[in-house]
Amino acid sequence: MNIAPALNDNQTRYTGFSVSPFSANPRLQVVTLSNDTLARFADLTANWSLQSIEYKPFLRFATADALDKACHYELGKLLVGIMENRDTGAFLLQADEQAEAGFEDTDAQREFFVKLSTAVSHLIGLPNFDAMYGKYYARFTVRNEDNSDSYLRQAHRRMELHNDGTYVNERTDFVLMMKMDEQNMEMGDSLLLHVDDWQELERFYHHPMAKQDIVWSAPPSKNVGYDIKHPVFFEEDKNGKPHMLFIDQFAQPQNMQQGLYLHQMGESLESDTNCFNVRVKTGAMLVVQNHCWLHGRDKFVAHPGLKRELLRQRGHFTR
Ligand SMILES: [Fe+2]
Repeated sequence: MNIAPALNDNQTRYTGFSVSPFSANPRLQVVTLSNDTLARFADLTANWSLQSIEYKPFLRFATADALDKACHYELGKLLVGIMENRDTGAFLLQADEQAEAGFEDTDAQREFFVKLSTAVSHLIGLPNFDAMYGKYYARFTVRNEDNSDSYLRQAHRRMELHNDGTYVNERTDFVLMMKMDEQNMEMGDSLLLHVDDWQELERFYHHPMAKQDIVWSAPPSKNVGYDIKHPVFFEEDKNGKPHMLFIDQFAQPQNMQQGLYLHQMGESLESDTNCFNVRVKTGAMLVVQNHCWLHGRDKFVAHPGLKRELLRQRGHFTR
C-alpha cells in the first residue's frame, strides 16, 4: 500500500485522499477526497449521464471503479475495511477545501453528487430499491413546513436514534446519507451512537424481551405494503456481538410488556451521553454500518427560507 508519511499522528495520507478519526468519536473515519481526485473522477465518468446510470445498473459499478481508479485502487479496499470492522463501521466522506470552494448551486453539481454517492455505495455493496422514490437512491427536501406522516421531513423536531430497514424484509447493512443542498440551516446535525457505546446495552440486550418478535409496519408514504416481525436484537455478528434493528415510530407493540420495553429503550437511547453530533456539509456523505450504529438528526432552528435536500441510499454488502 502506498502510504505517504502522515501529516500528524491522526491523519493517514493516501494517493488522492486522506483518512483521520473524527474528533468527537474516533470510531467514525473522516475520508477526504482531494480536488484532483474529484476532477479525475468527473473526467472518467463524463460520458455517463445520470440517466444512463439509472437505466443501466452495470454503469453504477463502472462509476465505482472510476472513483477507485482515481484513488489508485486504494479507496475501495479502505472503505470496505472500515465497514467490516465493527469498531469503526462508519465514515464521513467529504471533499477537500479546494474542491468544496468550487461547488456550485446547480443541478449539474447535484447530479455529480448523485454519481459520487453511487460510486461510494457500489464500492461497499449494492443499494436496495428505494420504494419511496422508485430508484436505487432517494432524494428528498426538508422545508420549514411539512405535513407528511413521519418525522423524516419535519425540521423542528429531533429525529430519534434508530436503525433503518426495520420494517422491510430485505437486509439493510448500510445507510448512506448525503447533503445535496442547504439554505438557511442552523443546527440539524446528524446524530450517531455506536451500539457498543450505548451505556445501557447490557440492560436491554440481556432482557427477556430482547429476542422476542416485535411487529413493525411503515406508514403509507413508505410504499412498503406489508408488516414484518423480528426482535430488536435480531442477530449476532461473527464475533457474537449484537446487531440491532430498532425504530420508535414503526414498532407496533402487541402487549404492555413489549410496549414498555420499547418505550424504555427509546428513553435510554435518547438520554445516552455517548451520542454525538456530526455536521455533514453540502457534497459530503455519512455512511454507517446500519446494524451496529444508530443514527438520528438534531432539530433545526426555524427559518421561513429553510431548505435542505438530502440523498439516501440503503443497501446490503455483497462480499
Ligand atoms: Fe434513518
